[in-house]
Amino acid sequence: MSSGNSFYVTTPIFYVNDAPHIGHAYTEVAADVLARWHRQAGDTTWMLTGTDEHGEKILRTATANGVSPKEWADKLVEKSWRPLLETIDVANDDFIRTTEPRHEEAVQKFLQKLYDDGFIYAGEYEGYYCVGCEEYKQESELVDGTGPYEGQKVCAIHSKPVELLQERNYFFRMSEFAERLLALYADNPEFVQPESARNEVTQFVKQGLSDLSISRSSFDWGVKVPWDDTHVVYVWFDALLNYITAIGYGNDDESRLDELWPAVHIVGKDILRFHAVIWPAMLMAAGLEVPHRVYGHGWLLVGGEKMSKSKLTGIAPNEITDTFGSDAFRYYFMRAIAFGQDGSFSWEDLSARYQAELANGFGNLASRALAMVTRYFDGTIPEQGEPTDDDLEIQKLVADAAREADAAIEKLAIHDALAHIWTIVDELNGYITDQQPWVLAKDDEQRERLATVLYTVVEGLRALAVLLAPVIPVATDKLWTALGAAESLGALADQPIRDAGRWGQLPAGTVVHQLEALFPRIETANA
Ligand code: MSP
Repeated sequence: MSSGNSFYVTTPIFYVNDAPHIGHAYTEVAADVLARWHRQAGDTTWMLTGTDEHGEKILRTATANGVSPKEWADKLVEKSWRPLLETIDVANDDFIRTTEPRHEEAVQKFLQKLYDDGFIYAGEYEGYYCVGCEEYKQESELVDGTGPYEGQKVCAIHSKPVELLQERNYFFRMSEFAERLLALYADNPEFVQPESARNEVTQFVKQGLSDLSISRSSFDWGVKVPWDDTHVVYVWFDALLNYITAIGYGNDDESRLDELWPAVHIVGKDILRFHAVIWPAMLMAAGLEVPHRVYGHGWLLVGGEKMSKSKLTGIAPNEITDTFGSDAFRYYFMRAIAFGQDGSFSWEDLSARYQAELANGFGNLASRALAMVTRYFDGTIPEQGEPTDDDLEIQKLVADAAREADAAIEKLAIHDALAHIWTIVDELNGYITDQQPWVLAKDDEQRERLATVLYTVVEGLRALAVLLAPVIPVATDKLWTALGAAESLGALADQPIRDAGRWGQLPAGTVVHQLEALFPRIETANA
């Protein structure tokens, strides 16, 4: 199946009942940073995202708006979800919609196979259903409602009442997979991460698994069950399959699937069980490999609760990017929140980090360095002389930071990777203060020393541009051009990221160009 260096990363596919908020954008950015990192490392990389368009939730929203569900989905995809990717600069390789024939046909093939192999049977079901989650809930999972729902039991995530449903459905024999799933979690601790997520899932499966209702007959907005067209496939069963239908499952030629599967799934912790329990059980039943990893990240919180449009706490991503730009958006969420944990967004924090870390820390370092090369060496990067201990320390720091960052990305600890890379920014700023190139410049005897100091700084910037390209692609590209590296080393995207820490790559003699401010000062009411 998958070859050594292939990296297939997915985001959840998003419900099209509403427009995206920054919680959704957060998942997209994380997956994109990982994909860009691996792409730049030369791994066979594929990033998939898309939209989840079937089910009762979308049907009800469309009906309430007086249009067909397909019309509703088309509008949301074109007006909101695809544009989101541009707003936050996501370089996905594919975008799948569950209403596409390539998906629907493959879902039917998968289902038919499970049916033929005896994993599906007809039965009765009665239970409480949350349309917001598109999931049956156990009574133990419900909480007391407040406000208009006082006295009723409501979904803990959506705070809305659940509905009692009784239907004749088709069931997937999920209960048969409990032992194999527990063995998977035990033998392969990497499978569900972070640790807290793994524990939660293990405890859940240890209590025993029920069979899963996988069809609905009270409405028809979904993929038709191939042997019974009075039923449509349960929306989660349909949606999870996107991860393989998008790469050619069920096609005559499954070479893409062979090359890329299994995937790394990035998901919010609220949908962890679907990905770490139901999904691997489905794959086991079909005789396919389980995912490589399921990583449950935390929530963006507002007032201590998950940010959500339905609770009117959603912030649109462009509210941030219009002022701060896409790079700052990407940097802020990857840096300020430990990946895997919840985090609160605040304009003050965003603004403070923008100013201190991006503008003063990184942006100023770049502009000062280039200005000095221009002023003292006529815009040509000088040859470095014999290095002192201080210079060697910087060289080692760059090599260490690059190695540690790659190791952190392997563990999906994006915030740690950034913290390691940022040691280069901080140390280079300290180095300039200590070496005082403006003093060296006054003394002709110190010409070689000045050359070495400036070379050390611009070569450090070369490494920074390569290492930060996956997170802040716009600014690093500008820096790359200004360093003259595009001419002397080729495109930034072609610089092998695992080699970023090797010293001495930027050739002396490279001619630098003018650099506009990477992170300009911002005057806003919010900031
Ligand atoms: N359609 C399903 C996923 C199917 S995947 C086969 C779904 N869609 S969703 O649009 O409701 O949510 C998509 C993702 O957005 C989830 O991973 C969810 O955790 C994430 N987020 C929604 N609100 C969020 C925050 N406030 N913070 C961080 N992520 C959040 O579930």
